[in-house]
Amino acid sequence: MIVNNVRFVITAVKQEQYPKSDLMEVAFVGRSNLGKSTLLNYMANRKSIARISSTPGKTREINFYNIEEKLHFVDLPGYGYAKVSKEKKSTWSEVIETYLTTREQLKLLVMIIDIRHDPTNDDMLMFDWILAKGFNYVIVATKADKIKRSQINIRLNELKKDFNIEKENVLIPFSSVLKLGRDELWEIIMNQII
Ligand code: GTP
Ligand code: MG
Repeated sequence: MIVNNVRFVITAVKQEQYPKSDLMEVAFVGRSNLGKSTLLNYMANRKSIARISSTPGKTREINFYNIEEKLHFVDLPGYGYAKVSKEKKSTWSEVIETYLTTREQLKLLVMIIDIRHDPTNDDMLMFDWILAKGFNYVIVATKADKIKRSQINIRLNELKKDFNIEKENVLIPFSSVLKLGRDELWEIIMNQII
């Protein structure tokens, strides 16, 4: 996918602030500081349309980006970092939960994990929730440049087991440093959107 026209649409916390548009949406979720904004920038061919932070958990809001007037990329806040009270059932914030449960034009959830690490409890909670709600999803294992090339497939197989994934094309390696995974992810996105 050649992306030339990308524009920031709006920052939202509440539902009323979401863009009033029926463009289909692809939302990006994952723990804080994993490289979610970096991935979004790379997918959108931009250096810094999505803010890249050095302080984890900085993004508390939802940011919407218009891609070629065809779809929205939705950058959700990172989960698993905010200090959330133990009584709360879910550790991802209400901001994420509201978006995921109310947004009808959400077509695909891209869940980002670090290829080097096993899923955390938060990741498993999120994933179980994705399955329970029946979302279309793809798990992107990023920072693939941080391991040896020969380890990539080994880690993918381990992660498949961790998540108990049997389907094909729902777990892909990614690295903005190696320029790996962009075409594959775009293909998955386009297949969902058509
Ligand atoms: P929050 O919005 O704060 O939750 O973080 P985020 O998930 O948006 O992560 P962000 O894109 O800000 O990246 C976090 C750090 O990881 C930055 O220092 C990035 O440069 C680095 N990073 C992101 N992607 C990659 C990658 O593919 N490879 C390597 N080596 N570093 C990466
Ligand atoms: Mg971010």
